[in-house]
Amino acid sequence: MTENNNKQKDLFNKHQCRYDSFAADSYVQEYTMRMFWSRFVDVLKDSNSILEVGCGGHTNFVKLGDLGISPGTYDGVDISDKLVEMFEQNTPDSSTGYCADFTSQAFDPGKKYDCLLFIGVLHHMTKSLDAALEKCSELVKDGGHVVFVEPNVAFLDFARRIWYRFSDEFDDENERALSIEEITDLCENHGFSNIKKEFCGNAGFFVACTHEILKLPWFARKLLFRPLFHLDVLLAKLNWKYISAQHISVWKNNGRPIAPPVDSAS
Ligand SMILES: C[S@@+](CC[C@H](N)C(=O)[O-])C[C@H]1O[C@@H](n2cnc3c(N)ncnc32)[C@H](O)[C@@H]1O
Repeated sequence: MTENNNKQKDLFNKHQCRYDSFAADSYVQEYTMRMFWSRFVDVLKDSNSILEVGCGGHTNFVKLGDLGISPGTYDGVDISDKLVEMFEQNTPDSSTGYCADFTSQAFDPGKKYDCLLFIGVLHHMTKSLDAALEKCSELVKDGGHVVFVEPNVAFLDFARRIWYRFSDEFDDENERALSIEEITDLCENHGFSNIKKEFCGNAGFFVACTHEILKLPWFARKLLFRPLFHLDVLLAKLNWKYISAQHISVWKNNGRPIAPPVDSAS
């Protein structure tokens, strides 16, 4: 494992205890279900086998259950051994949690999936984005899908960079927001075509999902959540990248990686 990936492992081993409280938070649940999950739930419903990349604990597995989705196979891979342990403890025996660096050539679950799910994860692999997409095309069945929910570089990135740089809850060597154009290039170069690109996450996102990092007191959340949530629902209809903290994109594996440009010298 590279030094960079060890850094991610140490960071998430240290902060793993946060996952249970995050999963139990009703504002987080309501916000993420309505603003994020509803946009790709149809793809998950059609997938009999799902690999959650950077699965963390088991929070997303619980969400799937809340949505009434129970795929034949729901596996997870994460670089943090402590989080994989949580995943294994809280998912059925039919699920496998792999402790591995997803971008490593050595990672091989020995099967292909209908869907790979990345919820806030690709932007932790910025030193190996090409390797990550290479692994996606290796592990997604022809006609299968990849879903990315990632922080949007087009929105307040200067503030995010300062925040990542000075907070010990982030690893600014490996983590940075991504542009939808960067994801598009990566996906298209690895044989994926776009099904959906959407933007969302305005003021309500910060109140609902980043309250621990912003140290928002409970009464501020109680007061602000409902009006800002409704405002975000309206703003999301604009689908405008410059006002949105996140982008969601869904990609289909065409099974035909686009050939790299021919080197004219050879
Ligand atoms: C922000 S957390 C998201 C966790 C989960 N997807 C969720 O929505 O709660 C990012 C996760 O990616 C994992 N991760 C980072 N780099 C990784 C890598 N190279 N391979 C596998 N997992 C990785 C971290 O350990 C962490 O659990």
